[in-house]
Parts: sequence; structure tokens; C-alpha cells
Amino acid sequence: MASEFENRVVLITGAAGGIGKAVARRFLAAGAQVFAADLRADLLAAAAEELGATPGATIYPIEADVTVVRECERLVAVTVAGAGRLDTLVNCAGVWVEGPSETMTEADWDRVVAVNLKGTFFCCRYAIPELRKTQGCIVNISSDAGVVGTPETAIYTASKGGVSLLTKSLALELAPDLVRVNAVCPADVVTPMLRYQADTYGRGDPEGYYRRLLGCYPQGERARFIRPDEVAELVCFLAGEKAAPITGALLSIDFGTSAGYGYA
Ligand SMILES: NC(=O)c1ccc[n+]([C@@H]2O[C@H](COP(=O)([O-])OP(=O)(O)OC[C@H]3O[C@@H](n4cnc5c(N)ncnc54)[C@H](O)[C@@H]3O)[C@@H](O)[C@H]2O)c1
Repeated sequence: MASEFENRVVLITGAAGGIGKAVARRFLAAGAQVFAADLRADLLAAAAEELGATPGATIYPIEADVTVVRECERLVAVTVAGAGRLDTLVNCAGVWVEGPSETMTEADWDRVVAVNLKGTFFCCRYAIPELRKTQGCIVNISSDAGVVGTPETAIYTASKGGVSLLTKSLALELAPDLVRVNAVCPADVVTPMLRYQADTYGRGDPEGYYRRLLGCYPQGERARFIRPDEVAELVCFLAGEKAAPITGALLSIDFGTSAGYGYA
């Protein structure tokens, strides 16, 4: 039986990160050609070597900074020059900042908004003409913080809220050409970003930071963080045939943390 994504071409930003690499792995397993972009050449080379070791896996690493508009354009151009088409864009590149808003700087705002929001938009912007040709799709990685507010994360939530609504607007704009645009909204996923959060903002007690996060989950004692492969499964589903009626959706994968109030 042919693999679902055979002859399909997927471009993933932030592909050397926790979620991006899991997404790349999942698409490779489904037979796709994967163009893996990341800012960090060292991590990208390691990820490409690890993922490319699977027999039949076709992965092309591209070092790029999504905050630079012409780099977003180049990412799409390199992909189409290499593979002749683009079927799916997954925007995973992202950075985190937290802390009291009165301590935030212009540099914090510029960096986080540039990667999370501007980079996502401009990768979409240059992918659109190619996706119109293939009736392809975009999956943006937003966040639970792109659906609900949380204290001391105003810049990050502003950037992810932007990603959530640009997802919906693009979905409407591109629907006549059967290009679908969706976002997944994870809560805490076990990745280098989560480790960075705990190490940088845990006041010397990363385990305490993790406990505080898990304390917000409705599962109580049985709460756990999400695995990157669980997010990747949802991304791959959204890119596939079975998701044909789904566009403009913000799909939460968060153990219910954004569902509302009322748990003990
Ligand atoms: N880990 C979580 O708990 C969590 C939860 C919800 C949403 N997210 C989102 O998921 C996405 C992936 O996060 P992750 O947890 O895998 O983080 P990660 O830090 O493991 O990976 C992010 C990747 O993005 C890359 N990147 C950063 N700036 C870039 C730039 N300017 N150009 C290109 N690449 C750049 C980094 O090098 C890194 O490899 C992010 O958008 C993040 O905001 C993460």
C-alpha cells in the first residue's frame, strides 16, 4: 500500500527543535520528502543525520532565519527548486519569554514577535502561490497561550494569539483554492523550549517550575506533559486527506487546560 504522503513535499520551520523534529520524523515515516529549516546549523545537521538514517527517508536541511523576510522567501524557493512542488508548510519555529510585563524590553518584544508571528506570516505568504497549485495546506504551531491568557506571558501570548487569528483569516482567504490552514495549540510539551523555560525562569528550581505548570492541569495527580510525537501525530493528521473538511481550526492538544474553569 502506498504511504499517505508519498510524492508529497513538506517544509517545516524550527525543524531541529523538539516539536519540529518530531513532525519531520512523522512525515518521513509517512513517505514525504521533508525540507527541514532551522536557525541553528549545528542542531539541524544533527537532526538531519538522525532522521536521515532511516532507510528511504528524504530530508533536506536548510539553515534559515525566519525573522528575515527574504529568508522566508528563500525557504520556499529552495524547496520548490529541489522538489518541484510544495504540499504542506508547518510553522514550528518559535521562542519563549516570560516575566512581569514591566520588566519586558523592546528587544524581548521584537525577538518574540519576529520569530513567532512575523516569521510564521511570511513563510505562509511565500508558500501561498505554491500551495494554490497543489491544493496544499498550512499547519501553524500556535499554543494554549494562543487561545487563553496566562499571567506574565503577555508578549508570548500576544504573538501566539496573532498566529491563531492569522490562521483563521488565511483559511478564509485561501478556501476558494482548497488550500487549508489550521493551527494546533499545545500546552506544555517536553522539548528543549520547556527545559529552557524551567532553567531560565524556575528561580533555580526547575522541578518546582514543572510542578507549578502541572498544577494547572485538570488531571490533578495524574497530570503529565505532552510528548512531541503526540503533537506530530495531530499535525500529520491535519495535513492528510482525512482532514479535508477541516480548515480555520485551532485544535487544542492540552489535556483540557484551555477548556475553562471548574476543576479541583
Ligand atoms: N514546548 C512547549 O511546551 C510548547 C507549547 C506550545 C507551543 N509551542 C510552540 O511549538 C513550537 C516549537 O517549539 P518547541 O517546544 O519544539 O521548541 P524548541 O526550542 O525545541 O524548538 C524551536 C526551534 O525553532 C528554532 N528557531 C528559533 N528561532 C528561529 C528563527 N529565527 N528562524 C528559524 N528557526 C528558529 C530553534 O532553533 C529551535 O530549533 C514553537 O512555536 C513553540 O512556541 C511549544
